[in-house]
Amino acid sequence: MATIMRTPPVDAGDPNFLRGDPITGDRYYSKEFAQKEWDHMWTRVWHVGGRESQIPETGDYVVHNFLRESVIMVRQANGGIRAFYNSCRHRGNRLTWSSEGSGDFVCSYHGWVYGADGVLKHAQDPDDFEGGDPCGRVSMVEVPCDTWGGFVWYSMDPNAPALLDFLDPIPDLFANRPIKDWVRVIWRQFDVDANWKFTSDNFNESYHLPTVHPQLRANTDEDYKATVFEAYPNGHNRMIELGQPSMRADVPNAVEDVWAGMLQAWDLDPTDFEGRARDGRIALQEQMRKLGSERGFKHYEAYDDNELTDYFHHTLFPNVTLTATFEGMHFFRTEPHPTDPEKCTFDYWAIVPRIEGQDTVMTICGERPMEEAEFEFVPYGSGQPIPDMMDSFLIQDLSVAIGQQAGFHSRGYTDAILSGQESRVRRFHEVLNDYIEGRR
Ligand code: FES
Ligand SMILES: [Fe+2]
Repeated sequence: MATIMRTPPVDAGDPNFLRGDPITGDRYYSKEFAQKEWDHMWTRVWHVGGRESQIPETGDYVVHNFLRESVIMVRQANGGIRAFYNSCRHRGNRLTWSSEGSGDFVCSYHGWVYGADGVLKHAQDPDDFEGGDPCGRVSMVEVPCDTWGGFVWYSMDPNAPALLDFLDPIPDLFANRPIKDWVRVIWRQFDVDANWKFTSDNFNESYHLPTVHPQLRANTDEDYKATVFEAYPNGHNRMIELGQPSMRADVPNAVEDVWAGMLQAWDLDPTDFEGRARDGRIALQEQMRKLGSERGFKHYEAYDDNELTDYFHHTLFPNVTLTATFEGMHFFRTEPHPTDPEKCTFDYWAIVPRIEGQDTVMTICGERPMEEAEFEFVPYGSGQPIPDMMDSFLIQDLSVAIGQQAGFHSRGYTDAILSGQESRVRRFHEVLNDYIEGRR
């Protein structure tokens, strides 16, 4: 097991942890505020542009559109990846409308051609340019690009901090999970009629679990006194929920069906845990440690005991959540709509380790092949039913976002009244304000 060396969390008990900046409704619907986010935050942070597995060969590229910007990430001959704005240096035409592809970039306006290295290699009438042939002298404009966790990242800030510094300490927290080599078995995007910040708010607290996700209490302890809440200097957070039944059940410490199934899956007899269901967590850890490798779960060998049972939610400032479980990782992300702050896209990716002898995997959308998924756009808007996700926790979260978006417009809402366990919700807004007001 790897030793975790990391930046210590900010002390949330410190009276100076929060300034108390109000979380006003206009932050979720005002175009002026959205413009400030673009000017001072989105153009400075690192963005996830795709998965490395999408671009294995030289010249393979993936395109990420963000608001009105578009960035191309291209695999280079030396194996690295470079990123360029998707705009022709001649007259600004967008070079590609594909989300991924391979080969040179041929401009559809006057035919300029750029190679994988971004350098212009063909121009019509090259002798007709002042200073001579622009080929070899002109390049697509490059932006910082790097990889971590199998994700390709880019920033629109030419002076961006190094990716690992920006992400610190998240890579250390994932030291035991080789997510770089895991497989994206679900690659979905939904449209949601809510501001993008609902996910950052929502995934930074577990206070909503008993109300919004009552089904989770069978195997997730949402008690805030048992939950670890951490905030890091860069604006990232971690929340760890114990993988055991909640004491909020109708009959606390009874073994409900979901928990019984989890115990049985590891050859434990649920009746042994009647009246002491929560003891099953340690028993599960012992069984998973003992039987994991022979069942193909080789990755368990690197996990510490808690990683075998508990739920690790990492919110990466500003808009990515990585939830690591014993089964794999959920990737959640919202991105703002190009013109309407009351809309966003929500990405859900399931990223899992390959298990020897297993060619399918159970996901929140049912059983899926253990292979790289195709992109699926799923219309949701303000609540369109999604047949294969009817009871999923994810749809429960989205439906709340719609109702909250409506409430933010009310003159009856002026600021959040937060419990102590939700302090990272306000902290997120304060970090955002730090960007907007020039403190970061
Ligand atoms: S705009 Fe691209 S070749 Fe003219
Ligand atoms: Fe939720």
